[in-house]
Amino acid sequence: MGFTEKQEAMVKDSWEIMKKNIPQLSLRFFSLILEIAPAAKNMFSFLKDSNEIPQNNPKLKAHAVKVFKMTCESAIQLREKGEVVVGETTLKYLGSVHLQKGVIDPHFEVVKEALLRTVKEAMGEKWSEEMKEAWGEAYDQLAAAIKAEMHAEA
Ligand code: HEM
Repeated sequence: MGFTEKQEAMVKDSWEIMKKNIPQLSLRFFSLILEIAPAAKNMFSFLKDSNEIPQNNPKLKAHAVKVFKMTCESAIQLREKGEVVVGETTLKYLGSVHLQKGVIDPHFEVVKEALLRTVKEAMGEKWSEEMKEAWGEAYDQLAAAIKAEMHAEA
C-alpha cells in the first residue's frame, strides 16, 4: 500500500507542533545523535571544538530543521506522487556536502533513530506506532535519494 493521506497528515500535524519549539527540538535531536553515535561529533563544524552541544547555534538549528522539514516534504510527495522527488540542484548539493563531511550510509540510520526518538518525546501521548511508521518511511525515502546521489558522486 502506498503512503496514505492519514500518514501524510500525521507527519504534517506533528511537524506543525514541533516547529514551534525549534531550539529545544534541535538540541534534543543532536543530543540523541551523539548519544547513539558519539563519533559523529567530529563531522559537524559546530561540535568539533566543544565539549558540549552549543546552545542556540544557528548551524545546529539549520541542520535539524532541514532534516525535519525535508522529511515532512517527502511525506507530502509520497502521498501525492508515490515517490520522493528532490530538485536536482538541491540533491547534488546534499550529495556533495555529506560526502565532503565524511558522512557514510550507516550514519543515516543513526539520524533516523534520533529523529524518531525526538518526535516520540515531543508528541508524548499523541505518539503511536503508525506515526513512527509514517515518519520512518518518509525519512527512508529521502535518505535513499541522498545516498544514491552520494554513491553516484563518490
Ligand atoms: C549538512 C540536510 C543527514 C551530517 C547538511 C546540509 C543540509 C543537510 C541541507 C547543509 C547545511 C546547511 O547549510 O543547511 C540533511 C538531510 C538529511 C541529512 C535532509 C537526511 C535526510 C545527515 C546525516 C549526517 C549529516 C545522516 C551524519 C550524521 C551533516 C554534516 C553537515 C551537513 C556534518 C555539515 C554541517 C556543518 O558542519 O555545518 N545536511 N542531512 N547529515 N550534514 Fe546533513
